[in-house]
Amino acid sequence: MLEINGVRAGYGAINVLWDVSMQVTRGEVTTIVGPNGAGKTTLLRAIMGLLPLQRGQIELDGKPLSGVSTWDLLARGIAMVPEGRLIFRDMSIEENLMMGAFPKAKRAAAHAQLDEVFTLFPLLKERRALQAGTLSGGQAQMLALGRGLMSSPELMLIDEPSLGLAPVIVQEVFEILARLKAAGRTIVLVEQNTSMALRIADQVYLMQGGKITLTQRAKDVNIDTLHDLYFAR
Ligand SMILES: Nc1ncnc2c1ncn2[C@@H]1O[C@H](COP(=O)(O)OP(=O)(O)O)[C@@H](O)[C@H]1O
Ligand SMILES: [Mg+2]
Repeated sequence: MLEINGVRAGYGAINVLWDVSMQVTRGEVTTIVGPNGAGKTTLLRAIMGLLPLQRGQIELDGKPLSGVSTWDLLARGIAMVPEGRLIFRDMSIEENLMMGAFPKAKRAAAHAQLDEVFTLFPLLKERRALQAGTLSGGQAQMLALGRGLMSSPELMLIDEPSLGLAPVIVQEVFEILARLKAAGRTIVLVEQNTSMALRIADQVYLMQGGKITLTQRAKDVNIDTLHDLYFAR
């Protein structure tokens, strides 16, 4: 579905990604694990067209994404759930969700989509009129995921959804991700929680220092080997 080939990108004169290649298969969870600062978020930004590529290309269903605006990517079925959740604290929960339905083509279906999100997250429905700032960290993550779902995306890029959450809430977040997977969604999941990520992943990439240092099917990953590699540098 998504094909990343030899991508080099960074911020101005600072290069971060070094010839990164990756394949995302439809209906699968592809996870990118790796330490802080490895370039995981930068790769998601590059996919979303938020960073120019110095080299390489990214294709969605065989069509290059270069020159496609971030807005058009949303319309073409890619949604990003950013690191740090980035919800609008002063807006209501429902308004936050409606923000996720902004591509014009998606707006007509927004109300049906809202019902679907409320079925997945009953607590958000209960509190729909409350300010998003009243939510706990775990609830805010559910809101961020719900907002991502509002554009009815075919491909979701989810950046560190478990970051900073208590273990029991992390379990809840992963249960939601498992349900999204069961519903047939294609997910790119960036995580530092490797053991949780491995449980729902089909394909695993380890990223270190802006490079992919391990590419494996999840079922073939030996967690000890992965951790040895992870902490080797
Ligand atoms: N906006 C930015 N400008 C300059 N450098 C950045 C910016 N964002 C991230 N970086 C740098 O890029 C590298 C990779 O960061 P990032 O992609 O956020 O890593 P990860 O998501 O794996 O923790 C880090 O060295 C970080 O300091
Ligand atoms: Mg990051």
